[in-house]
Amino acid sequence: FSLKNYNTFGIEAKAKQFVAVHSVSELKTILEQHPSEKKFILGGGSNMLLTQDIDALVIHIDLKGKKIIKEDEDFVWVEAQAGENWHEFVLWNIDQNFGGLENMSLIPGNVGTTPVQNIGAYGTEIKDTFVSCDAINIKTQEIKTFTNAECNFGYRESVFKHEVKDQYIITSVVFKLTKHNHKINTSYGDILAELEKNNIKTPGLKDVSNAVIAIRQSKLPDPKELGNSGSFFKNPIVLKTDFEKIQQKFPEIKYYEVSATEVKVPAGWLIEQAGFKGKRFGDAGVHKNQALVLVNYGKATGQEILAVSKDIQKTVFETFGIQIEAEVNVI
Ligand code: EPU
Repeated sequence: FSLKNYNTFGIEAKAKQFVAVHSVSELKTILEQHPSEKKFILGGGSNMLLTQDIDALVIHIDLKGKKIIKEDEDFVWVEAQAGENWHEFVLWNIDQNFGGLENMSLIPGNVGTTPVQNIGAYGTEIKDTFVSCDAINIKTQEIKTFTNAECNFGYRESVFKHEVKDQYIITSVVFKLTKHNHKINTSYGDILAELEKNNIKTPGLKDVSNAVIAIRQSKLPDPKELGNSGSFFKNPIVLKTDFEKIQQKFPEIKYYEVSATEVKVPAGWLIEQAGFKGKRFGDAGVHKNQALVLVNYGKATGQEILAVSKDIQKTVFETFGIQIEAEVNVI
């Protein structure tokens, strides 16, 4: 079974077996029927690089549905099933004037994988509005609810990448959103600039969403047109003491404070300085507008893209002494 249409990089790789599940009970049954078989859980396929065929039963999580489960004067609790498209879910909330997700408009992928890496953009992360998620234990088929605290969210991090890695499948997620007095977040310079360009002084949810969409469309390639997985690397967090030494050599280096002792450095800047922006190696390449994004021009293999990523890591390390880590799951 070809997985080409199931990964946004558009890599040709084959699954030994493939099944799509449309309900939690269907998912339970599949897990019960295949207790000892190797399994590979596939959501939106927007954060992975396939470097080989999958010698396992691939279970594609295609659970649909979104609804309001509770509300009070000020807030609404909305629940989406794991297979809902993230961006459509964001727009559905904005259309009802529910606030909190607008800065994360147009992020590819499905709702069910958003907690795994605590997706975020333009000053907001899902941990800011995430209440809980339900997940099924792959071995026992028991359903467990993970609260926000239990998810142990960090920058592109959660318990699902560590303590309970490969043990659970997220089936639905609940967010708590504002009904009025929205906390409009225009802290990210690009958003303010985009709003100013359009002469918007008191932006609403839709304005922020439109600004984010415009920025993303100008910088980030559309996976439907050019295979990619968003940021390939995480922005590295560096000790201030180490950073100051690097800064002496590269005074123009960009950074954001993250704590009293650490700064975050934009990997896109490091990669651009290392000379990779817009470079193409066969069908694998580095995007021309955002050096953090690796792209597949058509027939690149996962191995070819991985090789480019390794070359970038090596050169960035040799140039700056900073180790950058993949954000994308390399399979
Ligand atoms: N930069 C360059 N050259 C480049 C790209 C970036 O010099 O080619 C520098 C610029 O100075 C820019 C700074 O890096 O000011 C930051 O760039 P940008 O605003 O594009 O954001 P980013 O740090 O590269 C992160 C997220 C994105 C998210 C944006 C906006 C990570 C790994 N990536 O990128 O998330 O959309 O911020 O909030 O944290 C993703 O995770 O897939 C993703 C796209």
